[in-house]
Amino acid sequence: MNPNKALWEKGDFTRIAETMRQSGKELVDWIGVTEGLKVLDLGCGDGTTALPAARLGAEVLGVDIARNLVEAGNRRAKEAGLTNLTIKEGDATDLGELADDRFDLVVSIFGAMFAPRPFDVAQEMVRVTRPGGRIVMGNWIPGDPTLVAQILRISSAYAPPPPEGFVSPMTWGITDDVVERFAAAGIPEAKVSCAPETFAFDAPVPPKEFVRLFRTYYGPTMNAFEAAEANGRADALLGELEGLFEAQNQSPTERQTYIPATYLRVTVEV
Ligand SMILES: C[S@@+](CC[C@H](N)C(=O)[O-])C[C@H]1O[C@@H](n2cnc3c(N)ncnc32)[C@H](O)[C@@H]1O
Repeated sequence: MNPNKALWEKGDFTRIAETMRQSGKELVDWIGVTEGLKVLDLGCGDGTTALPAARLGAEVLGVDIARNLVEAGNRRAKEAGLTNLTIKEGDATDLGELADDRFDLVVSIFGAMFAPRPFDVAQEMVRVTRPGGRIVMGNWIPGDPTLVAQILRISSAYAPPPPEGFVSPMTWGITDDVVERFAAAGIPEAKVSCAPETFAFDAPVPPKEFVRLFRTYYGPTMNAFEAAEANGRADALLGELEGLFEAQNQSPTERQTYIPATYLRVTVEV
């Protein structure tokens, strides 16, 4: 089994994605999706950005490596009556069957960053975007003090070291790496812009319960807990994550968690 696929089919990412809908919609509004635009949403999950893009009238194809998330996204599209959105199983490192220059816009929000072989990913995104089109990525930033980078930092201290040659997905949050990857795909540096932006997690539960959702449903956190349990350190991991979520929570009410997190918004003119 492909470990990249296994990681995201583990658990049920839809339970986390449910807390990301508002920022996903706002990001799509910022991008300026218009009626009839041909959009590829790469690593689309269950459609946090693909559904808003389709609601604006774009012709949207979602591609995701996780079969369960593809099914969930297509279910959501059907329930919303969106006939202009289809989600298929596929791998960002090799979009083989998708023709060159097919899309006006390729969007990948915390999606393609998780695929291995980042140079192949950049190459494929550029290949399927038409000249004059755009690529917009959202990538978490390594070492950032906000939620997602900190979950990763804490979790990695409990997990075994990654295999030799592993390229951290978080390197997609480093401007120099992003520029280098798109340059290798033929895009000059002047056509790549990177800026820190904010994406909020909004969960209708208190912070400790939100940590429980990550522990139960989010593949990377599930793996961290499995490794920690094997070493008798699960309580320590839980304590660190609960402390993090409590400290970052900005909700004024006890029954809700609202955590803004910083990401790198990458825009590429093809
Ligand atoms: C953090 S989730 C984000 C999902 C969605 N973009 C969102 O904002 O809710 C990461 C997504 O990337 C997908 N993914 C990871 N590796 C992939 C790959 N190699 N090709 C396509 N999708 C991939 C996962 O299955 C998962 O749906």
